[in-house]
Amino acid sequence: MTSVLIAGATGLVGHHALLKALADPRIERVIAPTRRPLDPHPKLNNPVIDMSNLPKNADWWAVDNVICALGTTRKKAGSAEAFRVIDYDLQYEIALHTHHHGARNFALTSSIGANANSLFLYLRTKGELENSISRLPWQSLTILRPGTIIGSREDSRLNEKIISTALKLLSPIISKKYHGNHAEDIASTLLNSVLSGNSGLHILEADRIHK
Ligand SMILES: NC(=O)c1ccc[n+]([C@@H]2O[C@H](COP(=O)([O-])OP(=O)(O)OC[C@H]3O[C@@H](n4cnc5c(N)ncnc54)[C@H](OP(=O)(O)O)[C@@H]3O)[C@@H](O)[C@H]2O)c1
Repeated sequence: MTSVLIAGATGLVGHHALLKALADPRIERVIAPTRRPLDPHPKLNNPVIDMSNLPKNADWWAVDNVICALGTTRKKAGSAEAFRVIDYDLQYEIALHTHHHGARNFALTSSIGANANSLFLYLRTKGELENSISRLPWQSLTILRPGTIIGSREDSRLNEKIISTALKLLSPIISKKYHGNHAEDIASTLLNSVLSGNSGLHILEADRIHK
């Protein structure tokens, strides 16, 4: 029996990961810190916290496995600096706290094209986060690099709808890597990665993200 902390459990990917973790008999305890409350569940500990001031010594950081599916966009965050606070600082801090409290296995939702040398803020920040998290000595670290994430959102984003429709139409002629990934498949891959705990660093590009 094991425990898993899910960061971003109110999001599209994170919510699928949460439902799968709660339903999985191998998992005894699910910790999902959020800034708005989740539906209660007997297996769930849901600290509702101020993400800009993480509690360093909370006992709930002590888990075996961590899934990170947190993130924003520059538009939502309001500036490049505010975007970096969420897409780099906050996620790295979560990695540091969980690692410090004994977590062994970590799975990160990054992005297709993540690259610390990219000229694009989004891809550069994702690449920098990948590099920083990789420097921590995990037993198992899996980095997923999905393409456009497909699934239904509360706040439907027009751009993503257009991209996912275009990807569907173009799928016979473009590489599988660019077909987009279903949120549910990403969630299953995140969960399976931490539970299998295969040692070392595993980078899964979009075409290797399956149910
Ligand atoms: N969307 C795509 O097509 C795409 C493609 C490739 C990679 N990705 C990456 O995949 C990951 C998951 O994507 P997703 O589409 O599932 O994300 P999502 O639905 O937008 O969910 C984002 C999660 O991050 C949390 N979050 C956002 N801003 C926050 C803030 N200021 N403070 C605290 N928490 C905050 C949200 O919490 P609230 O519910 O409280 O806002 C939510 O739990 C992200 O890292 C994203 O960059 C996305």
